[in-house]
Amino acid sequence: MARPLKICVCGGGNGAQVMAGLASSREDTEVNVLTLFKDEAERWSKAIENKDMVIKVNNKDGSITEVKSKPAVVSKDPSVVVPGSDILILIVPAFAHEEYFKAIAPHIDKKSVIVGLPGQPGFEYQCMSILGEISVQITIMSFETLPWACRITEFGLSVDVLGTKKFLAGSILRGKAIPRKPPLMSLQVLHGFEPSLQQTKHFLVILFMSYSFVHPAILYGRWKNWDKKPLDEAPLFYQGIDEETATLLETCSKEFLDVAHGITAKHPEVDLSELLDIYNWYLTYYKEDIEDSTNLYNAIRTNKSYKGLVHPMTKEKGKFVPDFKSRYLTEDIPMGMVVFKGVSEIVGIETPMNDMLLEWGQEKIGKKYLVDGKLTGPDVKDTRCPQTYGLTTLEEVLSGRKAEENAA
Ligand code: NAI
Repeated sequence: MARPLKICVCGGGNGAQVMAGLASSREDTEVNVLTLFKDEAERWSKAIENKDMVIKVNNKDGSITEVKSKPAVVSKDPSVVVPGSDILILIVPAFAHEEYFKAIAPHIDKKSVIVGLPGQPGFEYQCMSILGEISVQITIMSFETLPWACRITEFGLSVDVLGTKKFLAGSILRGKAIPRKPPLMSLQVLHGFEPSLQQTKHFLVILFMSYSFVHPAILYGRWKNWDKKPLDEAPLFYQGIDEETATLLETCSKEFLDVAHGITAKHPEVDLSELLDIYNWYLTYYKEDIEDSTNLYNAIRTNKSYKGLVHPMTKEKGKFVPDFKSRYLTEDIPMGMVVFKGVSEIVGIETPMNDMLLEWGQEKIGKKYLVDGKLTGPDVKDTRCPQTYGLTTLEEVLSGRKAEENAA
């Protein structure tokens, strides 16, 4: 009998619980969970001691499918759940990736596949740097986002899938060893029919397609001239943008494409043709949700899937003030905009509007990355830009490895 597909889900939040539940329900699959955060492993193990998890999937036709299943083992000890895993799927916010890479490093083997779901910019650079020698052998995959909008309703036991993406792009950076199971096909089986997983031609496509300027630009648009007076209610986030913000998004998107073109001009063999400008990306990804697609401004304001989403705010004496320490800045800047800036510096293409946003955002989160337009600030070392890992040439950016490793 063929050996079952062995999965290790890394994380304990909304997405990790959906993945663990869905994957466990598939035939010939053994699913274990590694969760390092606080007492999550203990709580989750206890919750499923005598019960199955219930994953409630809201389907597009309004019906609900209930999947009942549970992972074999949930542990905070990597030596228990990592060895022998064919695929390790990291489903945690990007700031937690480092801890997981360090925990799994001694227990993976050269045929392992490591998946970032989502990976977020710099995933490959950080993974290879922490895993060291074995990273030349393993396969690294990075997806653009989570396949589902999902929320835990009862920790470890019950989770709602509010919506499922129709398709999801992911990259595969192959190492020297051949994985025990075909990675993309295996992941597709775990997910089921949707989303349809689509492989990009280069891992940089996923880095660029994170469009990490979007959240900072919307925050900038709303709060740049804020008079510091608390508000009675939180303003709409996407659906509340003005035309000036839409123009800023278009300009930042054009700078992303300029950098991509700068790369392909020097390396025509690198295929980044799948990259879309932000307007066409919205039209492609939210086709059925957009009521007025005449331009980017209307497309964002009339995107039904953004209904009710408001700016991150904190409440003070019954009134609302913006929360600049939300993940929209604290994650999207060091794990997004700075990574892009690092790549554009190496390519040698100027990105003035992204720089302007970065300067504004870094001040809001109390960090210093850009100094006089260059990534020389003291906090650059805490970001996932290529320079953090000693990658300084375009060839190194494209391969994710240092020149001497590429030559070996
Ligand atoms: P989540 O917010 O549920 O993640 C929390 C989990 O992360 C915790 O349960 C813990 O396991 C881990 N964690 C938190 N702080 C930690 C720390 N200091 N050290 C170690 N681990 C820590 O995340 P969720 O919702 O599962 O999302 C995962 C990723 O997918 C995020 O990047 C999120 O932005 C993205 N995403 C989520 C969507 C959703 O509907 N939940 C939709 C689209 C993207």
